[in-house]
Amino acid sequence: MENNNRKSNRRDFLYVSTAAVGAVTAGAAIWPLVNQMNPSADVAALSSIEVDLNDLEPGSQLTVKWLGKPVFIRRRTEEEINAARDVNLDDLPDKSSQNANLKEGDASDKFRTLDEKGEWLVMMGVCTHLGCVPLGDAGDFGGWFCPCHGSHYDTAGRIRRGPAPTNLPIPVASLSSNGILKLG
Ligand code: FES
Repeated sequence: MENNNRKSNRRDFLYVSTAAVGAVTAGAAIWPLVNQMNPSADVAALSSIEVDLNDLEPGSQLTVKWLGKPVFIRRRTEEEINAARDVNLDDLPDKSSQNANLKEGDASDKFRTLDEKGEWLVMMGVCTHLGCVPLGDAGDFGGWFCPCHGSHYDTAGRIRRGPAPTNLPIPVASLSSNGILKLG
């Protein structure tokens, strides 16, 4: 039974990923060209992209490429949110939110998500140790695991064990009321 559920989730994940990446707006496609032209600051602003998240189910994650790097977008379940919020700050190796959208803030879960409820977690998908791409739904804390040297991140993308020095960084991002995520 559990196996069947796992297969089903995996199919959902692949479907959602394909649909959602297809919804990335044209800004993403023109980025490589703009980049080659060594753009002015005005033109560089075009490096922002939008992603339609309306089809992403709770418990699913999709990865989009932005500025040449993977960005993890996860719609967390209640269970994942509660697990992240139950963690004591003293148990976190990196106590900073690492959130580019905030001037300050500790690594509490409420400072890591895009929305107050804590459903939407958006992070650079690059391990803060030496830059591998961590695996989702993995590791000892139910979040992400980097197999390169064994870094475990929790359901808020915070480093909990292993050589990675900091939490996965949260890029400049915003989520509109109609479910469109803007990166940059
Ligand atoms: S690059 Fe991730 S643990 Fe080393």
